Amino acid sequence: MDQKQKPVRGSTPAPDHIMLSISGDAATTMTVTWRTSTDVTQGYVLYRAEGSEALLRADAVSDVFTSDIDESRIFWAKLEGLRPDTRYEYTCGGDTHRSGTFRFATAPENLTKFKFIAISDHQKGDPFHKPDYSALNRFLKDVLRQHPDTRFILTGGDNTDCGQHEVQWNGMFSGLTGVIESVPYMMTVGNHDNRGFKVYEEDRHEGRYYAEPCEYFNKQFRGSYPFNGPAGWETENYTFDYGNVHFAVLGVNEPELVNDWLKKDLQATDKTWKLGAYHFPIYYSGPESQNDDAYPMMRESMEMLDLLFSGHEHNFSRSYPIKNEELFDRPSQGTIHYMLGNGNQNPPG
Ligand SMILES: [Fe+2]
Ligand SMILES: [Fe+2]
Repeated sequence: MDQKQKPVRGSTPAPDHIMLSISGDAATTMTVTWRTSTDVTQGYVLYRAEGSEALLRADAVSDVFTSDIDESRIFWAKLEGLRPDTRYEYTCGGDTHRSGTFRFATAPENLTKFKFIAISDHQKGDPFHKPDYSALNRFLKDVLRQHPDTRFILTGGDNTDCGQHEVQWNGMFSGLTGVIESVPYMMTVGNHDNRGFKVYEEDRHEGRYYAEPCEYFNKQFRGSYPFNGPAGWETENYTFDYGNVHFAVLGVNEPELVNDWLKKDLQATDKTWKLGAYHFPIYYSGPESQNDDAYPMMRESMEMLDLLFSGHEHNFSRSYPIKNEELFDRPSQGTIHYMLGNGNQNPPG
């Protein structure tokens, strides 16, 4: 594609959309995702433990991502054999265009106490061609300044306002620049992330509500997250471990299938704590927010969790421990449901 025809925030030979994520053992691996224009065909990460001399190399796999406005190449490189509880520095890109140097830390072994950010619904629709995610950027940088020992960011979905249009992912990444190159970003999909219109901006009534599976999400992040979801619905569903916690990230499609998969997954884990993230609230806080997509269909698996993070409502609430419609006092007796509010000055919707 002619560079002159590139959309605002379109891909270039220089790597952008640089994102860390966890797709394996958090103590010994780290995954780096980035984007370039399609004329860049090879990509790799150069990295080393801070203070050591020798640079190591991890070659990336890549795929072409054709969207409604651009054609780009997405790279995924998995760094393996890392030392636990160690700081690393890295660059990514091809031979001619490299990123700046970024840093991250691996998880210590036998970790039982750690911090992560849980954020949701940071979608922004305006202005159309260059959605403004700058408040998200200020907010996350501020939280990370106050909590520099944050291990990763977990979202509750609606990462974008209209995720079947690339302009929105470009917007989201603009709001995460300077953040997720150093802190792994673990996304849950929301209903807005697989929403699309026939023609973005001009035709906001006719559309592809909703893409199943979440097409643009899966294309960009197929190599970013553990590919361990239910068959055919991986990437938008996955689980990962951090310290003594097992995290289940649940997509918005096929609730019966996800329920069966999650039950088996949670029975198999030996982690002390089981936490989940699912966009639609199971126990809603607003009278108009009742969601029948998942409840009671997914109740059985979700009530195997100690705690479930949800979004969608743009409200914040925390439930009593609940099991089978009954409220309890002690967390060991039921699942606590957290509604994460909104992460980008979006009013309750
Ligand atoms: Fe939302
Ligand atoms: Fe939503």
